[in-house]
Amino acid sequence: MKDIHSFIQKLPKAELHLHIEGTFEPELMFVIAKRNNFQIPFSSVEEVKAAYQFNNLQEFLDIYYAGANVLLTEQDFFELTWAYLTKVASQNVKHVEIFFDPQTHTERGVEFHTVLIGIYKALEEGEKELGITFRLIMSYLRHISEESAFETLRQSLPFKDLIDGVGLDSSEVGNPPEKFQNVFKASAKEGYKLCAHGGEEGPAEYIWSALDILKIDRLDHGNRCLEDEKLVERLVQEQMPLTLCPLSNLELKVIQDLKTYPLKKMMEAGLLVTLNSDDPAYFGGYMNENFLETAKAIDLSKEEIVTLTKNGFEASWLTAEEKEKWKNEVDRVAKEA
Ligand code: HPA
Ligand code: ZN
Repeated sequence: MKDIHSFIQKLPKAELHLHIEGTFEPELMFVIAKRNNFQIPFSSVEEVKAAYQFNNLQEFLDIYYAGANVLLTEQDFFELTWAYLTKVASQNVKHVEIFFDPQTHTERGVEFHTVLIGIYKALEEGEKELGITFRLIMSYLRHISEESAFETLRQSLPFKDLIDGVGLDSSEVGNPPEKFQNVFKASAKEGYKLCAHGGEEGPAEYIWSALDILKIDRLDHGNRCLEDEKLVERLVQEQMPLTLCPLSNLELKVIQDLKTYPLKKMMEAGLLVTLNSDDPAYFGGYMNENFLETAKAIDLSKEEIVTLTKNGFEASWLTAEEKEKWKNEVDRVAKEA
C-alpha cells in the first residue's frame, strides 16, 4: 500500500470538482473569525471537527453555509484559496477547475467582486508560484430562485473574462435542473461552459434533464445514472465526463461503504469518470486521499489509477494540446514510478 501511496503521489493530477468554500479548514476558520470579530459557536478545532457528522447532503450544507459566513473580505477569499492551492500543490495536482458559490456571500451582503477577486488573485499567484493552471466556475444555488441566479449572472458580466463556466449545486432533491433552464441558456449565450450536480441524491431523471434541458458539458457526481441503462448508454456515447467524489459520497451516506463503490463497473461500462474531493475540509481528504482510499477499498490496479488520472485531464477544459501533454506526462511518470 505504501507503494500505491507513492504511485498516486507522483502522478500529476487534475481536480475538476472542488467547492472552494468546502476547503475551509477549521484552523483557518478560527484565524479569520478572530480577525473579523466573528463569533463561531465552537471553542476549538477539535470541537468543530467533531461536529462534522452527516447523514445526508442537507445536514452537510447547513454546516458548510454556516462556516462560509466567516468569510467577509477579499483577503479572506484569497487566503482560503491560497491554502487550498498550497495543499494540492504538495499532492502534485497540476490543474484545478474550482467552483465558488457567489450567492452564499452576496445574500449576506458581501459584494460579488470581493469574492471573485480574492479567489482569482490566489489562482493567478498559484499559477505563477506553484505552476497550477486553473479554470473558475461560478455555481448557482439550486435551493433558491432562478431569478436570484439571473441576478448572479448579471453581476458576473463585468468579470466575464475571469470566469469559465457555471455550475449548479446545493440541495438537489426537489430542485430539478429544469428550474434553471432559462438562466443556463442565458449563461451559455454569454459564453460560459455549463456543468451541474446531478444524480448525487436526486434520481436519474435529473441527469436526463441536465443533459437535455440544461445542455451541460460536464456532470458533477452522476452516481445514480447506474439505475438507468439507457442513460448510461447515452453518457458513454457522448463521453460525458462524470466528476465523482468518493469520500464525499461516503461522508454524505450516498454510499454506505467504499468497498461497494461502483467505480469499476462505471469504468467497464465505458463512462468517462474522474476522481475529485468536493469539500475536502469536511470530508476528510484531498485528491490523494480520495485516490488512495478508493484504491484500497476496491483494489484498483495501477493501470486503473493511471486511466482515472488521465481522465481528469481529458475531462478538463484545457486545450486539446494541453490535454495530450498531460496524458503523456501521466504515462511517462507511471512508467518510471
Ligand atoms: N453537493 C451539492 N452541493 C454542494 C456540495 C455537494 O456535494 N458541496 C458543496 N455544495
Ligand atoms: Zn460538489
